[in-house]
Amino acid sequence: MPFTQQDIAQGNYLVTGATGRTGRIVVEKLRDAGANVRALVHSTAPEHQLDGVEYVEGDYQDKESLLAATHGIDWVIACVGAQSATRGLHLIEAVEYQGTVNLTEAASENGAKHMSLISVRGADTRWDFYPVYPAKARSDQRLIDARVGGTVFRPGGMIDTSGDIVRRQANTIKTGGTMNIYGTPNQPMVFIFLDELADYLIHSHLERRAYNNIYELGGPGNLTREEYWALFEEYLGIKANVRYLPVDDVVPLRQAAIREQNMPLAHQLSREEIGGRNESGHPPMNIYSRLFDVKQRDFRLWLIGILKSVKAEER
Ligand SMILES: NC(=O)c1ccc[n+]([C@@H]2O[C@H](COP(=O)([O-])OP(=O)(O)OC[C@H]3O[C@@H](n4cnc5c(N)ncnc54)[C@H](OP(=O)(O)O)[C@@H]3O)[C@@H](O)[C@H]2O)c1
Repeated sequence: MPFTQQDIAQGNYLVTGATGRTGRIVVEKLRDAGANVRALVHSTAPEHQLDGVEYVEGDYQDKESLLAATHGIDWVIACVGAQSATRGLHLIEAVEYQGTVNLTEAASENGAKHMSLISVRGADTRWDFYPVYPAKARSDQRLIDARVGGTVFRPGGMIDTSGDIVRRQANTIKTGGTMNIYGTPNQPMVFIFLDELADYLIHSHLERRAYNNIYELGGPGNLTREEYWALFEEYLGIKANVRYLPVDDVVPLRQAAIREQNMPLAHQLSREEIGGRNESGHPPMNIYSRLFDVKQRDFRLWLIGILKSVKAEER
């Protein structure tokens, strides 16, 4: 069902993680739709502020601040992430799990009607080597079971439309670099653009069927790994040097990174391991985009456009 700007503008929103990549877009879209937006931030320093938005300070580990922030709020959109490589692993349980539970409880206690939450594709308690995924799986479930209506989105790789990632990969290929990939060529690569994810988060309270449900997001037009690299070859004219390695090979590397306290590498290898072990397929985005009225780019067509521009820039 199509949603109008007027539908979106009804009621009061709280957006958390409002300075983050997704939260910033959500706040701006809501403000542009004419909604009342309160944004939870760590610091209300002037550089964070958009006109027409109420900024309040708070932290997921401080439930009192969340109770104050959710006061008078109808719709909560939770965009916090604690997994930045610069932050300690100890924050994962404290923020991704307990902090999200604190927010869910504060929203419920204050009578909010709905909360949408960003989780991650493949969130599962079985990935005990990477605490982000079990923590998110548990906090997702707490939201689904809570009094406040909840919709959980589990996105694949979240990308902007700049194509910078693709350009870096193209550069690696052109300079003879090798891509080591754990898992098999026919596994799906799943991406979602940040502005589309923002629309899912914003629209979810308008679709009653989405209450108390979990959706994996990514696509449409997603590719398998093999198809992805074949497009590089087709449009750049150079064969990508891609090696598919058994996923178990990543385990000693991940363990060494943890021993050496190289947390950015440990995070990256953990994610690669989950990617190599994840059995779920491409999400049915054609169904979801209709349900949530989100206009989506086709990932494959977008990638081809970026590759063509990389080729054109060579000339
Ligand atoms: N990157 C991906 O490809 C990917 C894929 C799937 C899912 N996700 C998930 O998507 C979500 C959003 O990611 P993103 O890249 O948009 O976020 P981001 O840019 O990393 O920003 C995270 C936001 O959370 C805030 N924050 C962190 N700890 C907090 C706390 N204790 N209390 C209150 N706010 C806190 C940060 O504020 P400060 O900057 O002030 O600390 C920042 O505004 C995350 O949950 C992430 O796990 C990401």
